[in-house]
Formats: sequence, C-alpha cells, structure tokens
Amino acid sequence: MAISYNDLLLFCSLVLFITPSLAQTSFRPKALLLPVTKDASTLQYVTQINQRTPLVPVKLTLDLGGQFLWVDCDQGYVSSSYKPVRCRSAQCNLARSKSCVQSCFSPPRPGCNNDTCAHLPDNTITNTGTSGELATDIVSIQSTDGKNLGRVVSVPNLAFACAATFLLEGLASGVKGMAGLGRTRISLPSQISAAFSFDRKFAICLSSSSRVNGVVLFGDGPYFFLPRDIDFSKSLFYTPLILNPVSTAGAFFEGEPSAEYFIGVKSIKINGNTVPLNTSLLSIDKEGFGGTKISTVNPYTVLHTSIYNALARAFIKEVANIPRVTPVAPFGAYFNSTFVGSTRVGPAVPQIDLVLQSNTVIWRIFGANSMVQVRDDVLCLGFVDGGVNPRTSIVIGGHQLEDNLLQFDLATSRLGFSSSLLFHQTTCANFNFTSNA
Ligand SMILES: *[C@@H]1O[C@H](CO)[C@@H](O)[C@H](O)[C@H]1NC(C)=O
Ligand SMILES: *[C@@H]1O[C@H](CO)[C@@H](O)[C@H](O)[C@H]1NC(C)=O
Ligand SMILES: *[C@@H]1O[C@H](CO)[C@@H](O)[C@H](O)[C@H]1NC(C)=O
Ligand SMILES: *[C@@H]1O[C@H](CO)[C@@H](O)[C@H](O)[C@H]1NC(C)=O
Repeated sequence: MAISYNDLLLFCSLVLFITPSLAQTSFRPKALLLPVTKDASTLQYVTQINQRTPLVPVKLTLDLGGQFLWVDCDQGYVSSSYKPVRCRSAQCNLARSKSCVQSCFSPPRPGCNNDTCAHLPDNTITNTGTSGELATDIVSIQSTDGKNLGRVVSVPNLAFACAATFLLEGLASGVKGMAGLGRTRISLPSQISAAFSFDRKFAICLSSSSRVNGVVLFGDGPYFFLPRDIDFSKSLFYTPLILNPVSTAGAFFEGEPSAEYFIGVKSIKINGNTVPLNTSLLSIDKEGFGGTKISTVNPYTVLHTSIYNALARAFIKEVANIPRVTPVAPFGAYFNSTFVGSTRVGPAVPQIDLVLQSNTVIWRIFGANSMVQVRDDVLCLGFVDGGVNPRTSIVIGGHQLEDNLLQFDLATSRLGFSSSLLFHQTTCANFNFTSNA
C-alpha cells in the first residue's frame, strides 16, 4: 500500500541547480557494463557492483523499474567515503525526496545521521517499503566498448538509499539490496549517464541460463554478441515508453509518477488470430491501474485473469493436436513435449504477438520465451494468472525477456527491442567478457 510521509516530515525546499557527480578520471568510457546472473532458486536476476572505501563487492537484485539503488546499511556497512545527503541539497532535490530527518537518536553511522534527506526504498519482490537515509559513496564499474570489457572506472558520489536489514527478506541469497534502473533522476542509468556524459540510454539482455551471465549496458551501443559481428543496437524495433502518472512503488511520496517502464500493447495475436480481450484493461486509468509494464522482478509474465483465460484458451485451440497433461501451479496449460518439435527459437508452438502502436510494430514471442520446460516430457505455457484486480493488467516478466535485447532511451522515452536473439543465432549470454583494456 502507498504510504505518504508528507504529513510526518518536513519538506525540502527546492534548489534550482543540479550537479551530477563527475567521474574522477581522464579516461572517457563509451559505456559501462554490469554482468547479470539468474539466481537458480529464486529466479531473480542478480548483479554485483563494487562500492565503498575500501571497495567491497555488493550483490544486488536487478530491478528494471526500481527507483534507485538501495542497500542494507544496518549490517556491515563500513566505508570512509560514505556521505549522507543533506536536507535541501541539490542531490536531495534531484531525488525528489519530500522528507528530511532532523535527528537520528543513536550514535552516527551509515543510515543514521542528523539533518539528512530521506527516501522510501522498496523491495519490489515482496512489495515492502520503508524509509531510509539517502547517501552517496564511491562505486566502481567496468567500462566497455560494446564488444569487450575495458577499464574499471569509478563514480565517486553515487547516490543511493540506505535500508534496514529486514528489507532484504525475499531476496536471493547473499544479496544486499536492489539495483533500480527506473525512470527517475537518481536511478543507476540516470546517474551513470550524468557522470560520464553518456546519452541517457541503457540496455538489458538477460540470459536464460543460471550458469552464464547476461548484461546491463549503460550508455549507447554498439552492442555485440558472439559469434555475430553485428551491432545489435542498429537493428531494433521501437515503441514509445508510456509514463504511468501514479507511482507503482511499494512506498512513495504523493504525486510521484511511476518509475516503471510501460508500453502500449494494443492487442494480442496468436498465429495471427486476435485474442478477444477487454481492451480497456490495456490502457492506464487515472488511478494508475491497467496497462502493460516490463519487469525483471516477475519471473514469468503475469496477466489479468480475463486476459490470462483468453490467451490460454486461444493458445490451446491453436495447438489442439498436442496432448495436454494435468496442470500444476503456477501455470495453467501443460503439454506433452514429446509431441512438440523444436526450432532455432525454441519449441515449435504458435507465436504470440504483442501488437504495439500499429499492426506493423509487433513484439513477437517465440517458443523459447512462451514455453517453460517443467519436466523432461512436460512443457507449459509460461504465463501466470494475476487475479481479477491487479494493479497492472500485463506485466511482461523475466522468462519472456530472456535472450531479447531491450534498450531504454530515457531522453526520447522510447523502447528499442530486438525480439529473440536466438533468431540471429546468438544469445544474451554471448557477450565477450574478455578484457581489452
Ligand atoms: C542528533 O542530534 C541529537 C540532538 O542534538 C543528538 O542527541 C544525537 O546524538 C545526534 N545524532 C546523530 C546521529 O548525530
Ligand atoms: C472491462 O474492463 C473494465 C476495466 O477493468 C471494466 O470496468 C469493464 O467492466 C470490463 N468490461 C467487461 C465487458 O468485462
Ligand atoms: C507423453 O507421451 C509419451 C508418448 O505417447 C508417453 O510415453 C508419455 O508418458 C507422455 N507423458 C506425459 C507426461 O503424459
Ligand atoms: C573475445 O575478445 C577477444 C579480445 O578482443 C578476442 O581476442 C577473442 O577472439 C574474442 N572471442 C571470440 C570467441 O571471438
């Protein structure tokens, strides 16, 4: 539920200048890169940054629509370069915080300082939010030219929120926070672009395997995946990103828009046949309900019950020749995979098309992204029923994003998407991690 701290805490006065932290290095990277691993037991996408002085590796659950980086400051946060963000400072304003903690009644430490700007970090896996001090610290990240790894560069004052240890509940083992890539001024992509004067773009490419890394690339292309000598940033389809005017975070300041990435799905087709849907569920209403968003914290696409039922019915009708197997939660439609052929883009099943701004702009979902192999001879339709009153009608989840390159352009509010890289005989796990620095 939404918590408004407006009444409890003082407002920060507006400061009308913005000073993004400048990188302390003469080397000008083209782009930065974070490796991403799929955690086999939680299906979360986990990345790692090096933060603090001395630097320590910090594992984080990736949250595409997350507002900013947050980490546990209560346990084991030791750093000589930790700086709380002061109330009414430029960074407090950039974070659009509406709260200021005058006094913290215990000895000063990371997460507890007087006169600090506070924000509302949230765990989007469990939908829990809290209040925590905003701070900055040094972060060092690998650079890339889009083909190989380059030198490590650092951002001396990267802003993040401190959270209490309890907020880690539900996150993958060893994880100490979440890496928010959302559409705010203090999300990781925004801060990194500001620090290195990159175009305000970033890309994600999630691996379907928990043994091989996918990547997040900050900055513009090129983006290369072996063995192809092709810059995949040049062959994307584009659709506008839509702003949901109402925050979808677990806790937020009143009046804030959502930090998540919404796109305009107009209809769904299976094998070219339109699935009958209540199309009013596909637009965002004034309370912020409805629409379609992209999420890395949902392992599978979650659909409003009526959309789920219509999709499953239409899909089953198209594959009437494949023997079905008794369903087991969380999926509804199971098939005997002995009867399903295989293709370069996964099991040979009808393609599911998300039709976007026009009939010619389609996010096509092939078998590798629509089906989940649950046992040797059992395949199921990898979509989940989200109930009759979900906040968002279609949440495109991790399984449907894997091996698809997605580029988010924050300046033009546009999503670039590749459809399945398998079609191009490569995968998101094929970035060449060899260093050429
Ligand atoms: C904050 O100020 C109060 C009152 O001056 C003081 O008692 C407290 O120790 C200070 N706390 C920190 C974390 O500096
Ligand atoms: C379609 O969805 C809207 C929004 O949830 C709802 O108000 C309306 O009753 C639905 N229409 C039908 C025919 O189910
Ligand atoms: C799938 O079909 C094969 C061949 O008919 C059969 O041997 C197997 O038991 C079936 N598997 C399931 C889970 O029904
Ligand atoms: C990976 O990059 C290195 C450095 O540029 C290069 O020598 C190597 O051949 C590349 N690997 C493959 C499989 O192309």
